[in-house]
Amino acid sequence: MNKNYFINTKNTTYVIGVDDKGIVRHLYWGRRIEDEMLEIPDIWDTNSNHSDMDNAMTEYTAFGGKMYRNCAVKCRYSDGCRDCVLKFKSASQSDNELIITLEDNVYLFEVELHYITYPDSDVITRFARLKNKSDNDILIEKMMSAEISLPSEMPYEVINTNGSWGGEFQLEGETLKAGSVVFESRKGTTGHTNQPTFIAHQGASEDFGTVYYAALGYSGSFKVEVQRDFKGITRAMLGVNDFDFSYTLKAGQELEAPCVYMGISNGFAEMSNEMSRFAINHILPRAYAQKPLPVLYNSWEATAFDVNTKGQLELAKKAAELGCELFVMDDGWFGKRNSDRAGLGDWFVNEEKFPNGLDELIDGVNTLGMDFGLWFEPEMVQRDSDLFRAHPDWIYHYPTRENNELRNQLVLNLTKPEVEQYVFDCMDKMLEKHNIRYIKWDMNRPFSEVGAENLENAQELWLRHTNAVYAIADRLKKKYPYLQLEACASGGGRADLGALGHFDMVWTSDNTDPLDRLIIQQGFSMLYPIKCMRAWVTDWNDNRRPVSLDFRFASSMQGSLSIGANLNEYSEQDMGKAKKYIALYKEIRPIVQLGRLYRLRNESAHGYWANEYVGDNEAVLFVMTTAHTLDNRHHKVLNLRGLDEKAKYSYTVDGREFVHSGAYLMSGGLSLELYNPFDAKIIRIKKVD
Ligand code: GLA
Repeated sequence: MNKNYFINTKNTTYVIGVDDKGIVRHLYWGRRIEDEMLEIPDIWDTNSNHSDMDNAMTEYTAFGGKMYRNCAVKCRYSDGCRDCVLKFKSASQSDNELIITLEDNVYLFEVELHYITYPDSDVITRFARLKNKSDNDILIEKMMSAEISLPSEMPYEVINTNGSWGGEFQLEGETLKAGSVVFESRKGTTGHTNQPTFIAHQGASEDFGTVYYAALGYSGSFKVEVQRDFKGITRAMLGVNDFDFSYTLKAGQELEAPCVYMGISNGFAEMSNEMSRFAINHILPRAYAQKPLPVLYNSWEATAFDVNTKGQLELAKKAAELGCELFVMDDGWFGKRNSDRAGLGDWFVNEEKFPNGLDELIDGVNTLGMDFGLWFEPEMVQRDSDLFRAHPDWIYHYPTRENNELRNQLVLNLTKPEVEQYVFDCMDKMLEKHNIRYIKWDMNRPFSEVGAENLENAQELWLRHTNAVYAIADRLKKKYPYLQLEACASGGGRADLGALGHFDMVWTSDNTDPLDRLIIQQGFSMLYPIKCMRAWVTDWNDNRRPVSLDFRFASSMQGSLSIGANLNEYSEQDMGKAKKYIALYKEIRPIVQLGRLYRLRNESAHGYWANEYVGDNEAVLFVMTTAHTLDNRHHKVLNLRGLDEKAKYSYTVDGREFVHSGAYLMSGGLSLELYNPFDAKIIRIKKVD
C-alpha cells in the first residue's frame, strides 16, 4: 500500500504512513514539509531475541505479537485471547482533521485515531476512539490517548514536576538514556506530584532549541510513559492510567480517550506562549476564555470556618474599597460545618451562621459593586452529615473493609447516576435561589477503597468519576452561562488542561508565600495559561522571611490577582498600597493575562527573578530579588523579548525615564541596579508614537 498521510499546521508537519502489511507507522514530526513522499522503512527481524517490531515507529501500538515495549492499547477478547492485531482499515481527511481507522478484523475491534489542526496554531489535538463492533464484550485494559515518537536516536532530557501539597509545580529534568520513566497519578485526581504533560528536548533553552511537548486534557489518574528503546528511539504515551483501570466495552459501544494537545517549538518560551494561546482560543470554556478575569477577594485565610454575615460583610466592604470585583466566601457556610470534621455533603445554608439566609450577604456584596462567589466540595461527604446518614452507600467502598478517611472525609461514588444528579441539584438549587456568579469547586482527598457495587466493572470508576465531574461542570455552565468556575484540589491537585476545558481557572497551591509562589508559578506557566492561575496576596509568612506588601503584590500580579489577606489587620497604609496595586493591575491585566510571557531570569539559575509580559503596545517587566544580592553584581542587563524592533518604548527605572527602540532593548538590553534583598520592581515599557 505504502501511503503517506500529511497533517500540516502553520509551521509543522506530522506524517503517518501505511506500509504494505497494513501497519500504521509514524514517519515524521518536524518543520513543515510539502510534496515529499516519505519512504516507509522495512520492518524485519534481526535475531531470535528481539523483533524489529519492538523499535518500529508504530503510530498506536497494540499489545500482541512480537511487541515487548510500552503499548498504547491492551485488550482481552471474550474468548480469552489477549493478542490484539491492529491494521489499517481506512482514512478520511478534511481541512482540519485526519481520522485513521485501525481494526482487528478477527474480533471486530476498531480504533480511530483523530488528529485535529487549527489555522491559528501549531498545536495538534489527538485522541483515540475505541469501538466494539462485535457481539461480545471486549475488556480494555489500557487505552492511551496518543503515542509520540521522537526523531533522533540520541537521548532527550525529559521535564516534568515533582511536587507535593504546598509545593506544586517543582520542575525537574532528567536525561533518559535507558529504560522508561513514568509520571503518573493513582489518586483519582491529577494530584500535586507529576503533571499529565510531556516535554522533551536536547539542550534547549527559553529561546532556542527544538522542544517537543504535549499535555493531556484529563484530571483523573493519568500516566505519561517515556521509554528509550535499544536502538535509541524515544517514545512517549499519554493517557488514562492503566493502573487498576479497565473498561468493559459492550457490543456496539465506543469509548473515547481524553485529548492530547501537542506541538513543537523553538525554546521553552515559544512552547508556553503557543500552548497558552491555544488553550485560550480552543480549550477554555468560551464565556470567559478571551476576557481578563476579575480581581477577587477570598475570605478563607481571614476567617477559615468562622463565617457569618457581619464578619463577611466587614471584609467585603474593605475588599470593595480596594477595588476587588468579586467576593468569594470559602468553606464553612453550609451544613454543620464548624471545622473540617463535619458537614460536607449538606449543601444548604447553615442557619446559625446565616439566620436571615445568604441573600443578606449576597445583596450586601452586590451593593458594594462586587459579584458573589461560593465554595463547594461537591465530590465529598462526611460521616457527620445528613447526606451520609441518609445514604451511607453513596461512597466508594467495599463491604468488607473500613473506609480510610483523609481530612475526615469520604469520596462520593459519582458513577452512580443518582449521586451525580444529587451533586448537580445541590449546586443548581443554590444558583437558582441566589445571585451566585462564581463557584470554587474543591476536592480535598484522593480516592481509597475503590469499590463501586453499581458497576459491573468497578475498574471503570476512575474514568467515569472524572467524566462525571466534567459533566456536572458543563451542565452548570450551560444553565448559568455567566457562572465562573474555579477548580481546586487541596491547592493545585487539579490544575491541568482537562480541568481547564470545563473550569475557567484553577487554584495552583495552598502555599501563598510570595517567594515560593514564584517557583510554583514558573512551573505552572510552562504549559498552562497564566491567566487561569489564581494568585492570592495573603499574610502567609511561615518561612519568616521579611516580605513586604509590595513584594507580595508583585508576585501575585503575575497571574490572576486575588486577595486572600485578613483585611481587618491591614493598616491604613496597607490599604492605600493595596488599592494602588489593584488599580495598576487592572491597567496591565490584559497584558499579564492575555499577552506573551518571557521568563528572563529565575532564581535557581540566576539568583533573581525577571518575567516579562508582552502585549500589543506595552510590556510589563517584574524583577524580584530574593535573599542574595552580591555586592559587585548589582548591575543587571535584561535583554527583553517580543518587542517591536522598530518601535520606540519609554519606561522608568528608579525614577529615571528612558526611551529606547525595541531593537535596542532586545539586543542591548534594559539596565537596572538591584541592591536590596526582597525587592520588587514593576516596570511598564510603553510604545511611544
Ligand atoms: C482546601 C483549599 C483551600 C480552602 C480549604 C477550605 O485546602 O485548597 O483553598 O478552600 O480547602 O477547607
